[in-house]
Amino acid sequence: MLWGGRFKKEFDQQALKFSSSLNIDINLFDEDILVSLVHSEMLSKVGLITNEDFEKIKNGLNRISEEYKNRKWKPDSEKFEDIHSAIELRLSELIGETAGKLHTGRSRNDQIATDEKLWIKRVSSYLENSISGFQKTLIETAGGNIYTIIPGYTHLQRAQPVSFAFHLLAYVEMLQRDKRRFEFVRNEADESPLGCGALAGSTLPLDRNFTSEKLEFREPTRNALDSISDRDFFLDFLNAVSIGMMHLSRLAEELILWTSSEWSFVKLPEEFTTGSSLMPQKKNPDMAELIRGKAGRTFGNYISLITTIKGLPLSYNRDLQEDKEQVFDSFFTYADSLMIMNKMFEKIEINKNRFKEELKKSFILSTDLADWLVLNGVAFRKAHRIVGELVKFCEENKISFSDLTIEQLKEINNVFTEDTLKYLDVEASLERKQTFGSPNPKLVKEQIEFWKKQLA
Ligand code: ARG
Repeated sequence: MLWGGRFKKEFDQQALKFSSSLNIDINLFDEDILVSLVHSEMLSKVGLITNEDFEKIKNGLNRISEEYKNRKWKPDSEKFEDIHSAIELRLSELIGETAGKLHTGRSRNDQIATDEKLWIKRVSSYLENSISGFQKTLIETAGGNIYTIIPGYTHLQRAQPVSFAFHLLAYVEMLQRDKRRFEFVRNEADESPLGCGALAGSTLPLDRNFTSEKLEFREPTRNALDSISDRDFFLDFLNAVSIGMMHLSRLAEELILWTSSEWSFVKLPEEFTTGSSLMPQKKNPDMAELIRGKAGRTFGNYISLITTIKGLPLSYNRDLQEDKEQVFDSFFTYADSLMIMNKMFEKIEINKNRFKEELKKSFILSTDLADWLVLNGVAFRKAHRIVGELVKFCEENKISFSDLTIEQLKEINNVFTEDTLKYLDVEASLERKQTFGSPNPKLVKEQIEFWKKQLA
């Protein structure tokens, strides 16, 4: 135990088991060692421990690190409350009394907050890289599908033709916003709480600028009370993961639809699909379904933590120990989902001609036709009505736009000409788009180039 002086009785075994977070905060092992190394270096620099003490502590900590990595030492959650106590007690086994000097001027309260911020900065930048990797894969796929025409939807009803490249670029945009959220998180976590002690700083001459700089924080935090009780950076992280997972979940949903026989648009690599134990013909998109399914728990993680914190008086309360599981779970869920999604897209097969013929027989160019009328002097509202009548005429006669003759067109309205028939070409529709941000293949190519440079 890290305390003792005032206690006569041993801590209850069951209470220890109930309260130990070691199995979870073991994820902070590297950060915890690093924080102790820097803290002890600072102690020696300001003269609170000797240089010899520091060397001993440093060697001890490095050895623990090695032992842990080589699986020679495994902290036992039946014996220790958390990673800090486990490491400190191992250190005392290795270097004896000197280990007792490491915690000078420090509390586990500022220690854990510092560990957590370091971890958040590290994994946020890891996630930013993974997101960039996935964006690159999407752009690669987009490059080969600039002319792959698919129906664009609103209300899941066919609306206007777009290209598959354009559809994928929409996700690239979403992913870019996701990345910016993690950049924000890193920035928020960039102040060092080390040296804030339990809640009110220290009477010892600790050098907070030194530790902040060594740990590569921008600067030390300004208010010890806030520093100890702040977990906003965790909430920001959980929020960033939630939105990221929500995006992946939407893409997963689309993949699931696209692979159905009804769509027959996408084939997922066999390595990432499963069969049925009963129905021999099945090839199921389980990975996409799991990504969609796992999004839920990341949303729950946010609600869970914000609820834990909401009634806490300043500063540290043991409730705060319950901040880690959700954060680690969200990180691993999101990191794995990104990795699997990326791998699936690397080997995805696109049925490029799937909609080519089908869309000719649809009314997907209705808006284009209304635009044609506008360009030929008809007021938009009137144009809308005329095309509506045309659709009705086709439906009643069981034909599509492409079956229309000039006579039939003229019967509906005399404004139509031969030129109208040429307009009813799905591919030409994309080329006609003029506005910035539209699926015009020329603009899509420019976008792909833009992203390639951006992500280089
Ligand atoms: N392991 C604890 C946590 O994660 C930090 C230790 C502070 N505990 C305490 N009793 N002051 O929150």
